[in-house]
Amino acid sequence: MFCSLFLPLTTWSFHSGTSLKPDSAYLFAYASLNDGGRAGLHFAWSTDKQIWHAIGPDHGFLRCDYGRWGAQKRMLRPFVYRDANGMWHCVWSVNEEDNVLAHAQSEDLVKWQRQSYTEMIQDGNCLDPIVYKDASGNTTIGWRTEKEGKIQYYKTATSDFKTYSKAAVIDTLPTHREEIYIGNKREIGSINKVAWGEIDALLNAQALAAYKYTLWSEQTKDDHQRFASLDSLKADIHVQTGDPRKISDLLMGVFFEDINYAADGGLYAELVQNRGFEYRPSDKEGKDETWNHQTAWKVQGKGSLHIDSVSPIHPNNKFYAVLDLPSVGAGLQNKGFDGISIKQGATYLCSFFARALNGIKTGVEIRLVGDDGTVYGSTIIKGIAGNWKQYQDKIVANTSAVSATLEVKPLKAGTYAFDLISLFPESTFKNRKNGLRADLAQAIADMRPRFVRFPGGCVAHGDGLENMYRWKNTIGPLEERVPQRNLWGYHQSAGLGYFEYFQFCEDIGAEPLPVVPAAVPCQNSGTGGAGQQGGIPMEDMDEYIQEIFDLIEYANGDKNSIWGKKRAAAGHPEPFNLKYIGIGNEDLITDVFEERFRLIFAAMKKRYPAITVIGTVGPSADGTDYREGWELADALEIPMVDEHYYQSPGWFIHNQDYYDRYDRSKSKVYLGEYAAHLPGRPNNLETALAEALYLTSLERNGDVVHMASYAPLLAKEGHTQWNPDLIYFNNEEVKPTVGYYVQQLYGQHSGDTYFSSDIVLSESKPAVSKRFGVSAVKEEKSGDLILKIVNLLPTEVQTNIDFGDNIVLDEEATKITLKGDPTDLKCQPVEIGEQVSNKFKVAISPYSFTVYRIKTKMGVGS
Ligand code: AHR
Repeated sequence: MFCSLFLPLTTWSFHSGTSLKPDSAYLFAYASLNDGGRAGLHFAWSTDKQIWHAIGPDHGFLRCDYGRWGAQKRMLRPFVYRDANGMWHCVWSVNEEDNVLAHAQSEDLVKWQRQSYTEMIQDGNCLDPIVYKDASGNTTIGWRTEKEGKIQYYKTATSDFKTYSKAAVIDTLPTHREEIYIGNKREIGSINKVAWGEIDALLNAQALAAYKYTLWSEQTKDDHQRFASLDSLKADIHVQTGDPRKISDLLMGVFFEDINYAADGGLYAELVQNRGFEYRPSDKEGKDETWNHQTAWKVQGKGSLHIDSVSPIHPNNKFYAVLDLPSVGAGLQNKGFDGISIKQGATYLCSFFARALNGIKTGVEIRLVGDDGTVYGSTIIKGIAGNWKQYQDKIVANTSAVSATLEVKPLKAGTYAFDLISLFPESTFKNRKNGLRADLAQAIADMRPRFVRFPGGCVAHGDGLENMYRWKNTIGPLEERVPQRNLWGYHQSAGLGYFEYFQFCEDIGAEPLPVVPAAVPCQNSGTGGAGQQGGIPMEDMDEYIQEIFDLIEYANGDKNSIWGKKRAAAGHPEPFNLKYIGIGNEDLITDVFEERFRLIFAAMKKRYPAITVIGTVGPSADGTDYREGWELADALEIPMVDEHYYQSPGWFIHNQDYYDRYDRSKSKVYLGEYAAHLPGRPNNLETALAEALYLTSLERNGDVVHMASYAPLLAKEGHTQWNPDLIYFNNEEVKPTVGYYVQQLYGQHSGDTYFSSDIVLSESKPAVSKRFGVSAVKEEKSGDLILKIVNLLPTEVQTNIDFGDNIVLDEEATKITLKGDPTDLKCQPVEIGEQVSNKFKVAISPYSFTVYRIKTKMGVGS
């Protein structure tokens, strides 16, 4: 590295205060060569272009959103340019293959606006883009393509960085990036001369981010140091029962997504895996040789199996199995999802479609067997003949078994076609046909969710346009539903579809909250190239909007309406009374998204003004999509928006005022996905208490936050793509987490009136006060007063609780406590009766969540 001994040309002057600051400096913009661009845009400054100072070496001021999660989201060779109006533009390559130019702009280099990825040429990559003025003064972007060693240079002109002239071949690029050293690290990037104030702003932004990071990284494992001097603590809590405030009665709900085998093999009670022979290698993008039409099936005995698609039962169910048996005794076997769990004395409904292909009419024996061939139950279905027909019967299990196998054995030699071979426990949740696994559904119902969001998450908008969750594909007879790839790397049979979701909501007294794509796929799509935020073509948008209207008619229309009739045919002539619909799931707020969202929103407002449309404000609690999503919500006056954030416990502790700051006159909030994440992603008492603490702030802000749902909900052991989740399960057991109990306690003890509380702690340091939270609500229906106290401190808190004189309380209260070591993965709430009065004392355990439910003798706060 060369260090200059000469004074730089920059002028230095005194500014207010005492520090000596230059008037201007050089700003170097780059993406680190070491991390493949994943940390995004970095800056360094220098007064002399010799000695460079990194602005927080790892701080990413702008990260690329292109491509799949993780490794695919890269910013390569950013070039930063300021236009004549002072607007900053950053262009970059997204990878070494794609033909797109990425762009974002910013007024101050700190807050960046939405990104665009424009296809610049038909074929070839778009490397090392630079921005310059051509000889006529036009803003021009040049880049290099490189294919099989052949290099070509291109240029395009633009006036707004939205539309670009047709790319033209040029001899070479007129300017290039610079190479500098930061310490001894070589970096390549672009240099601009800027006023010192701009560098100051970057330094401040980075310093603030670093400060926040330290707060948000706080974990209980360091509490012995953090609270070394805190040996006793007192709290006076005065609940203002004379000052009631209406809050949402829908706050606590659940988020259901088919992730972690939550649907097939999970909540959907079907026991046969790949019942329709529709698994395809493409479900796993061809990466798993064992995943195909025959997955989970095998032939037992002498015979052969192949898959055919000629004359299927229905075109939506393209594939079926053909079993060729030279002699009697062989059959098809299915091991279910990690084995079939059966219970002694329970009845199982078996069914299948079949055809006898060579005209030999036969019976078929259906058996449940153990690995050693022991028969656990069987039946014979007779009369299998020439054309597709559905056959069904029941089997009663003579024993309980963890891992039984289903066998389908024709009683005569011949060639037989089978499809949709199904086995359901007769006893599903509320005994619904094609129903849900009773224990899992019950665990959800026990949370008393006021709404159920479905079908996702990312599953809702899918991996590329072709993979969007289209509700019409998931209703009607099972053989007519359209199965598809699940973007979490498996298969969706669509057996659990829109009808079943609506039915489940009704069964548990929850509002249905379907989320449909905003005509764009998931921002993390890996298919479709630059189309990862490509949308349904504008000329098809009317049809797409009609599809959403049809959904409303399916849910709410008269039983004689076109779509209401289909609901009635499924067994539900009465409407489902749908009131809410989500349009989009944490989409990037791009031009493509906005154009489509505006259309859908306007159409919905006109046609179904009574339905609350829930918009989306991106995948995080801040940043471009959050900001621009809210700007759109303000402009359109969207009734409610869906916020998502997965954060550290420290974030939740230090952001309890997040909604206190919200403007009450703006859109309401549905906090559709949230969870506290620790390194290693456990769901333990620490994460659960951070969520419990934050939930006190959601109740406090229940006038703004109308709905909230932890995500994700379900995870099957051994098939988990995402941790933590709320409920883990296997075929035999349901395993609620500590976080589940927090959600359950809030769900079972929520209210619709809020009373603020004054808390005076004997130690007022924010580190202490932010870890002690209180929420008091009243449940109008029962008249009960509910007090929740969260203590995320390692110290017991001696508490004086004062409800004032506005109420008369029953002395006998129910007290429920969840407590333990922060690392505890298994603690459960303990309920006792306890004597209370309008003023009472109680010691609140370290690391605990306490709920008091107290009957009132007369109306409270009315
Ligand atoms: O909850 C898991 C995933 O997190 C959801 O599918 C998606 O919306 C979010 O990114």
